[in-house]
Amino acid sequence: MFKETFQRYLTMIDETLTQLPWDKNSLYESMHYSLIGGGKRIRPVLALASAEAVGGNPRNILRAAVALELIHTYSLIHDDLPAMDNDDYRRGRLSNHKVFGEAQAILAGDALLTYAFELLADSELGQPERQLRIIREVAVAAGKDGMVGGQVADVAAEGKSLTLNEIEEIHKAKTGALLTVSARLGGILAGGTEEQIGALTEYAQALGLAFQIKDDILDIVGDSETLGKPTGSDLRQGKSTYVSLLGLEGAGQQLHAQTLKALSALKPFAERAIFLNELAHYIEERKH
Ligand code: IPE
Ligand code: IPE
Ligand code: MG
Ligand code: MG
Ligand code: MG
Repeated sequence: MFKETFQRYLTMIDETLTQLPWDKNSLYESMHYSLIGGGKRIRPVLALASAEAVGGNPRNILRAAVALELIHTYSLIHDDLPAMDNDDYRRGRLSNHKVFGEAQAILAGDALLTYAFELLADSELGQPERQLRIIREVAVAAGKDGMVGGQVADVAAEGKSLTLNEIEEIHKAKTGALLTVSARLGGILAGGTEEQIGALTEYAQALGLAFQIKDDILDIVGDSETLGKPTGSDLRQGKSTYVSLLGLEGAGQQLHAQTLKALSALKPFAERAIFLNELAHYIEERKH
């Protein structure tokens, strides 16, 4: 059931992404290159599943869900730049800047970010009040107090040893914020109650932390072919991670604790949240 539902969401997401106008010039080409080349699509999947958990139709929020993938993809392009993590591979192919050069990679990221807000504001969504609310929330989550702020703290911490609390704060900001707003986007645009949106938030906050802990673990024990990106990047860049601080076993325990926390937040949804429940297990066990 989980696999089928995941596939149903992926098909909707990929159809929507493919239908965006892509073939105009080299900027479009570099945006498209990073977006279409693989990627688990967790953020839009989380948005669609959250919409369904509150009784909405995921098809109605597709363009907004896809906007989250554009923002995420921009963050990956910039994250791989020599000035940041300096990684040459992403999603099973060369990083954007290795193919298009650094200037174009920076600009492709900029364009994906702004395009995302164009999609979020799309009048076809037809829900101006809910849209306005979520546009603001996505801006906060992606920006200075969310993902970008987390990336700044992540880079500033290179070569330093951080406390668990400090690492947790970075992870919540650089990764958790966008995942959390993805769930909220689905809940809000599909007309969920404030209680439902609150439960989705609690779920996704724990899931987001679990997601980055697992990413830290995979950087050590993962297979770079399967991951589609290099392993050992964190060690090379002198990052403090859950694994560098707690070891693999300790990181695994934290991952499990956050997974359990995510699962318990789903209680109010009962069988409506079967997919979200399975998604938390999938994230704990994922190999890529
Ligand atoms: C990688 O994200 C960067 C993090 C926030 C950990 P994903 O693991 O979701 O990457 P893709 O989208 O599947 O390539
Ligand atoms: C990146 O974290 C989080 C982003 C906001 C892109 P990482 O630097 O650990 O992500 P990967 O391992 O390169 O995918
Ligand atoms: Mg990074
Ligand atoms: Mg990185
Ligand atoms: Mg990583």
